Amino acid sequence: MTDKNETIAESPNQAEQCRIQLAALIPEAFSEGELDVIALRRAIGEDAIIEGGERYALTWAGKSTAYKVLQTPSTATLRPERDKSVNFDQAQHVFIEGDNLEVLKILQKAYFGKVKLIYIDPPYNTGSDSFIYPDRFQESKEEYLRRIHDLADDGMLMREGFFRKNSKENGHYHSNWLSMMLPRLYIARNLLREDGVIFVSCDDNEVHNLRCLMNEVFGEENFIAQFVWKSRVSEDTRATTGVSTDHEYIVAYSRTGEAVLRGIEKDLEKFSNPDSDPRGPWRSADLTGLATKDARPNLHYDLIDPNTGVNYCCPPKGWRFDPETMQKKISEGRILFPSNPEGRPRHKLFLEEMRSLFKNMSTVITDVSTGDGTKEVNALLGQGVFSFPKPSGLISLLAEQVMGDGDLMVDFFAGSASSFEAITSLNERNGVKRRAVLVQLPEPVGENSEAARAGFSTIADIARERIRRVISKTQQSVDLASAEQKDAGFKSFLLAPSNFKQWRGDGIDTPEQLAEQMQMFAKSEKEGAQVEDMLYELLLKFGQELTTSIETLNVAGGKVFAIHGRKTLFVLKQFTEAMIQPLVDLKPREIITIDGVFQDSDNLKTNLDLQCRDSGIKFTCL
Ligand SMILES: C[S@@+](CC[C@H](N)C(=O)[O-])C[C@H]1O[C@@H](n2cnc3c(N)ncnc32)[C@H](O)[C@@H]1O
Repeated sequence: MTDKNETIAESPNQAEQCRIQLAALIPEAFSEGELDVIALRRAIGEDAIIEGGERYALTWAGKSTAYKVLQTPSTATLRPERDKSVNFDQAQHVFIEGDNLEVLKILQKAYFGKVKLIYIDPPYNTGSDSFIYPDRFQESKEEYLRRIHDLADDGMLMREGFFRKNSKENGHYHSNWLSMMLPRLYIARNLLREDGVIFVSCDDNEVHNLRCLMNEVFGEENFIAQFVWKSRVSEDTRATTGVSTDHEYIVAYSRTGEAVLRGIEKDLEKFSNPDSDPRGPWRSADLTGLATKDARPNLHYDLIDPNTGVNYCCPPKGWRFDPETMQKKISEGRILFPSNPEGRPRHKLFLEEMRSLFKNMSTVITDVSTGDGTKEVNALLGQGVFSFPKPSGLISLLAEQVMGDGDLMVDFFAGSASSFEAITSLNERNGVKRRAVLVQLPEPVGENSEAARAGFSTIADIARERIRRVISKTQQSVDLASAEQKDAGFKSFLLAPSNFKQWRGDGIDTPEQLAEQMQMFAKSEKEGAQVEDMLYELLLKFGQELTTSIETLNVAGGKVFAIHGRKTLFVLKQFTEAMIQPLVDLKPREIITIDGVFQDSDNLKTNLDLQCRDSGIKFTCL
């Protein structure tokens, strides 16, 4: 514990000295630098009564607020950005710029229970990380809207203090990180499929807290593994402890007990059929056992080659099979006796008979290192544009454990978009179409950074540019018929204020104010709201994914958007009497409109409503 208030010119601060001495003597009496009186009393042998009794729990300053933050609904939306996208209409991958908590809240309805894999690499809480502070519950509605506006208008960061550094001296150093993580993990869990899996990267700073938090959110019974990833290849010469910490962690949980990781492909190259065995390719396998004579006496015997009579003495740990099974295998030609009597017999393992083509994945990952991630980003975007990106090979190793064709992955701390490169290269390799949704804050790059020199303003810009370059690399490298190439592209969205007016009951005290409010809400959409922006806001509100295929129809001169084989129609631009019959003839299940399209004609609206009722079509006017 450091002396926070003392400067060289000042005399020693007595109180601070006492604090330091007490903390050195009774460290358990302090939590995040604050004195815990109950812990102090317990330490000196006094009775210390804990309200509600003692129990096992993870608790921190601000936990209740974190739950409230989670429960506060978002009033924002996602605005499509065609100019920042590639192949917007066909693309199956999505990139969203914005604070991931707001974005997750917005995505919740459309993506509930649909995501197979969530991979996140959040700030590790090293003491120099910045993140969005979880204390926004006190924020008024106006402040909130202004913040979302700020973000939309200049694309940069929000109000002072909203996104800030969490230093180790901060009194709530661990609490802040936990409060930031809790609501995000909660919503992440809602997005996962029953057989979905989440992988969270972290290091020693928070792994202990992360495990407890994940136990709370996902359930201890859904813990899969805590992988150790050897991220560092060469020694950390800056370490002051005499220890070079060369690894990070990846904590894995499943949504329910249903998920099983696939495992690592067995090396099938060793299988061949040099003797044209009708049972197909085989490889030779060890025949020695694993048990002592005391433990398994029936596995300890001499093995005699029936053709040569050569006696192969029992190995120290016996044979793999008992005498009866061994005789059967000999008669089936499955035992390989060596031509040289000094050699050891082995047995034939047939490819056809293998129980699985995969072996269990080790909890220690050594395949790739941080250096590989840096090389990838340097090669695509230039030297030093993004520090410590994850190697895409690490993420694809995880992704192929759980994702199959058409499956969706979400990474809501996307950074430089390594996950996108991981998914794309996996797709290219196996000719399947896994999809990705990435979320990244428009965190400004440092003023004198390489990224700024390369022309990037925010990390979201870096991510988008990497996605573009990965797509163009894919297009150059794959053959024309490849699945990945056909709809190679991504849809870019921006967290933005809603296109619709929010009903506000507060601040209305007089009939005049009420009348004014009613007038304002004669139209639900805001002045200047763009049709496509409203369409995407409604798609999300009606539980449709951002990559839902949209057909644009011309109905009696009016523009209509259709989804689900024209079962749901959106009329958001203009509406005329002439459109009613052709719309009804399309036999949709539902027609969704906004007030504005009727241009103050109640008759027109009532007519459409009546015709819809007659034809059993659900009519929704917002
Ligand atoms: C450790 S980096 C992720 C690096 C990434 N895995 C890669 O390989 O490039 C964490 C990222 O999360 C972003 N981030 C932090 N808070 C966020 C938030 N509230 N919403 C969205 N992104 C956030 C940071 O800007 C940072 O780029």
